Amino acid sequence: KTYRIAVIPGDGIGKEVVPAAIDVLNKVALLDGRFQFEWTTFPWGCDYYLETGSMMPENGIEILKQYDQIFLGAVGMPELVPDHISLWGLLIKIRREMQQSINVRPAKLLQGLPSPLRQPNGFDFIVVRENSEGEYAESGGRIHSGQDEIAIQNAIFTRKGTERAMRYAFELAKARRQHVTSATKSNGITYSMPFWDEVFSEIGKEYEDVGKTSNHIDALADFLVMKPDNFDVIVASNLFGDILTDLGGAIMGSIGIAPAANINTEGVFPSMFEPVHGSAPDIAGRGIANPIGQIWTGKMMLDFLGYEEAGTHILNSIESTLTQGIKTPDLGGTATLREVTDAVLQYLESV
Ligand code: NAI
Ligand code: MG
Repeated sequence: KTYRIAVIPGDGIGKEVVPAAIDVLNKVALLDGRFQFEWTTFPWGCDYYLETGSMMPENGIEILKQYDQIFLGAVGMPELVPDHISLWGLLIKIRREMQQSINVRPAKLLQGLPSPLRQPNGFDFIVVRENSEGEYAESGGRIHSGQDEIAIQNAIFTRKGTERAMRYAFELAKARRQHVTSATKSNGITYSMPFWDEVFSEIGKEYEDVGKTSNHIDALADFLVMKPDNFDVIVASNLFGDILTDLGGAIMGSIGIAPAANINTEGVFPSMFEPVHGSAPDIAGRGIANPIGQIWTGKMMLDFLGYEEAGTHILNSIESTLTQGIKTPDLGGTATLREVTDAVLQYLESV
């Protein structure tokens, strides 16, 4: 089977890590034999904006809808284009218009990678982040000026969107270690978070065998550092999930290895696979970005397409590479992006 994938490398290190991950996915496809990829690259992003005045063409979404899935690097060149323009003009626009309402972000202690926390038991959890509303709703405004100025940002939680996130988390937990933790803040946020808690408990009744815990986001941030092995699936609103998953990257050793998938749960539109990290302008163009986040993101795409075995080979090859000490500088090593990628390719061949 051939999958047609729209590729958007985007900006900064996105342009470096995406080709590396495509090399790995092509290799896995070749070795597996049951599937292959047909990649179509779109040069959309901040350079495109500086030339044309928009982040993607007007019919960009229509173009993307013709593909099976989307593989994206990162978006943002904050020194040249303000982030709210670049992100909302491409990344968030795709998430919203393709109704990719769930963002799945695993965090796991990999072999060969001592966690900065030296967790004796390791950890392996997945954050299910609501991806379409919540604190990132486009509702609010600014009124008055000077000393009287007021900025208002409304968080919007719909029953449909909240139930969808909860169900996704419980379904995922059923196939894992049977536990869901809800990230809340109903002691401080008086309308949306009590509603979030209610929906968690209502949907939870449909899943009798799955354990349930509710933690306030501040305590949860503490627990993820101090005892991350306590967690299986965590369900969180858009903002809380965003923050917890950078934390997930940090306790894995680097945000450069954290993967993510933006899922259109209805399967009407393509889903989009893009790592947690951004365009890292501070290290872009030097060939030293860590490609593992993008490669692991490619594994998530394989899992989504139903080739979990092939995905497991990728993760094993990543772990073998790390175990050999082949690491980019963000993990304390001296290897380049290319050296890490070549090592992963080599391990793939040897299994
Ligand atoms: P960032 O994730 O790009 O970088 C944060 C820090 O982590 C930097 O020190 C960077 O060097 C390091 N880092 C990130 N990925 C790495 C990798 N693969 N290998 C080694 N080191 C890595 O976040 P930052 O600096 O806040 O944002 C930079 C730009 O990216 C901004 O324009 C921001 O809006 C955008 N951004 C885009 C995202 C996306 O496209 N999904 C997500 C987050 C930020
Ligand atoms: Mg983020």
